[in-house]
Amino acid sequence: MQLRTYCVETWGCQMNVLDSQRLEGELRTLGLVTAARAEEADVVLLNTCSVRDKAVQKVLTRLGELRRARREAGRPQLTGLCGCVAEQEGARLLASHADLAFVLGPGRIGDLRAAIRAAVSSQQREWTGFAPQQDPDALPIDRTGSHRHFVTAVRGCSQHCTFCVVPYTRGHEQSRPLEAIVREVEHIGTVQPGSEITLLGQTVNAYRCPETGADFADLLEKLAEGSGFWRLQFLTSHPKFFTDKLIRILSRIPRRGRYLHLPLQSGSSAILRRMRRGYTREEYLELVSRIRTALPDVTLSTDIIVGFPGESEADFAETLTAVEAVRFGQLYAFVYSPRPRTPAARYPDRVSRAVASRRIEQLFALQGEIQRQLNRALVGSTVEVLVDGPARRGEGVWQGRGDDNRVVNFAAWPGIQAGSLVPMRITDATAHALLGEPVQQPACAAEALSGT
Ligand code: SAH
Ligand code: F3S
Repeated sequence: MQLRTYCVETWGCQMNVLDSQRLEGELRTLGLVTAARAEEADVVLLNTCSVRDKAVQKVLTRLGELRRARREAGRPQLTGLCGCVAEQEGARLLASHADLAFVLGPGRIGDLRAAIRAAVSSQQREWTGFAPQQDPDALPIDRTGSHRHFVTAVRGCSQHCTFCVVPYTRGHEQSRPLEAIVREVEHIGTVQPGSEITLLGQTVNAYRCPETGADFADLLEKLAEGSGFWRLQFLTSHPKFFTDKLIRILSRIPRRGRYLHLPLQSGSSAILRRMRRGYTREEYLELVSRIRTALPDVTLSTDIIVGFPGESEADFAETLTAVEAVRFGQLYAFVYSPRPRTPAARYPDRVSRAVASRRIEQLFALQGEIQRQLNRALVGSTVEVLVDGPARRGEGVWQGRGDDNRVVNFAAWPGIQAGSLVPMRITDATAHALLGEPVQQPACAAEALSGT
């Protein structure tokens, strides 16, 4: 079978986005080029997520669609399952799906070429587990053509929050050497000057350099000395590891993004204990106030799980009051979903779907109102917008994001370029987006800022 084109479909978190870039880098070293649609590609990789919802069901649906398209077109196609579903359910899916060429877990991305070769000659199909000698971050990533870049600081997670499958699918926590991260960021600054850099880790602020013992604050300080990029962000911070030293360094370094994602998960200390999160409601709120005192311009966002086993009306009310107290700029809420192998999946006192749905709607309504007020308060202010491209909502409307991660929509102008940095005045706002216009005349703005 002649392999010429590929398509990688990515579900889930930023880690998966970065892993897909690595998978694509590997495919390109095989001489493959991108296909416009998965249905037309010789190699299709599904880079999956199993953190919530019916992960396996989604995979089966997509595999079925691809199978039908193949049959209709009468052409062969090599389909590989990657990501966390591959790690967790790979063996089972291989047994029941003969048309699956291989499964390849997040710890085996470096084996992609071997997996494709083996699949072509009908050999090994299962590539899971964590090969100790592999450094996935040493794999080629194509950094050209984009102005937002993810860089791994910490791989895996060892926290074992009782609801979470990530430690099982991505392995234990491992920080990369500081020098390797600095080199990668410098490389991006050279090939794509003016980029936004986001350091990644499930608990990114637990970073500890395996060679020098430098912590996350030291890493940020070191990176801030470099040039070539204009905005430095990181995801995800765990409240337990947010030290005063980190707050101090953040208040000092230039080009820091104003966006901070700090998952709360629940506003009830009793539920937080059962989640094994390692902090109480009071400790979280106190941390928020320390962060806000030192970094008044920061926009906080959070993750909340609704309907965790044993969550009473009183526990949920505490989540609502915590959300009211903090006033997050963005909030991601999820109905609790039992995950295989996790302790919480065996906890009694399940919350019914109907109750959880009602609670999440209540939370969304509260957050919608808070966001509307916070966004309305920005009308008249000026925001530096990194232009992303055409928005989905209509002809001539483009969108970008401010350094607080808020979406800004605006009317496009001739010569507008993705990746440019444009100061914009906010003219209107809803709960979910801001409307802006360039502070300078569009033509001048485009001219003055092209090449930034
Ligand atoms: N490392 C990050 C989160 C990783 S998963 C952290 O420390 O918070 C992303 C989000 O998915 C989590 O913050 C949580 O809110 C949600 N999530 C994880 N497991 C879940 C589950 N079993 N059910 C519902 N939501 C879940
Ligand atoms: Fe999951 Fe908790 Fe780690 S949410 S990724 S086990 S910090």
